[in-house]
Amino acid sequence: MRTTDLSWFGLRVPPFSKEIDDDDLWLPTSKVDLVDDLAEAIEARATILLTGEPGVGKTCVLRALRRRLSPETYRLTYCHNATLGRRDFYRQLCVALGLTPAATAAAVFYAVSTHVEELGRERIHPVFLLDEGHLLHQDVLDHLHILLNYQWDSRALLSLVLVGLPELEQQLERRRNRSLYSRIHHRFTLDDVTGEDITEYIAYRLQRAGADKTVFAADAIALMHEHATGALRDIDRIAHAAMRDAARRKRKSVDREAVERVLAGRIPIA
Ligand SMILES: Nc1ncnc2c1ncn2[C@@H]1O[C@H](COP(=O)(O)OP(=O)(O)O)[C@@H](O)[C@H]1O
Ligand SMILES: [Mg+2]
Repeated sequence: MRTTDLSWFGLRVPPFSKEIDDDDLWLPTSKVDLVDDLAEAIEARATILLTGEPGVGKTCVLRALRRRLSPETYRLTYCHNATLGRRDFYRQLCVALGLTPAATAAAVFYAVSTHVEELGRERIHPVFLLDEGHLLHQDVLDHLHILLNYQWDSRALLSLVLVGLPELEQQLERRRNRSLYSRIHHRFTLDDVTGEDITEYIAYRLQRAGADKTVFAADAIALMHEHATGALRDIDRIAHAAMRDAARRKRKSVDREAVERVLAGRIPIA
């Protein structure tokens, strides 16, 4: 977005960028409880499933969770490249943990599980966040419960947080995955955002970008909600384009017409 478009609405930076500092993350009123519950589950050393449609804010919830957990006690490792076979999956985990990846599948698995046990001795609880979990290969799913098994399955030395689209839960419900599924103590769903969430979200992000007044008309927000089907990523895209359009037409606020023009494809969305 051009600086002139931004300053038209009194903004310093583009408000709907995906590059958000942790300090700028928005925690909607409706999600406060969820982050509390997730943190509590990790403190209980549990394994967790978190599902939701694309763009509803799953990855951002993980970031909020990271901020909540003390780095002295919890060692969080984030893996998002889920499209790997078993050996490469563990190699990726090795690298993320700062270990030298070994050559064979058995050796990388051994390196990861030994590291988990060492952390346990140091009273550090490792948490593996597996994002885009619906893409995990079956041979990885087949094996994950073994990673959760320490000292004859008597110690919870590691928490897995499996995050993905709703089909991840369906995948885990399959008979073949029951060893893993039965070890997932908490199952959370991130619901689609509501109209109220969207109003709060837009106001929040605009305020973080420097706005001191309402930029979007209420009916413009309502229309975005209708079309974004609950995904904040869609809201970002539409709101960005509508704002630019309204600025170029020298409108005092982003009105419903600007959103209509974006949705009708009359102005480019990127
Ligand atoms: N808590 C939040 N604070 C600020 N922006 C958010 C938040 N949650 C979601 N968003 C916005 O929505 C986009 C999609 O969220 P994301 O967490 O990536 O969705 P998912 O992982 O469910 O696909 C982000 O890039 C960001 O712009
Ligand atoms: Mg995500």
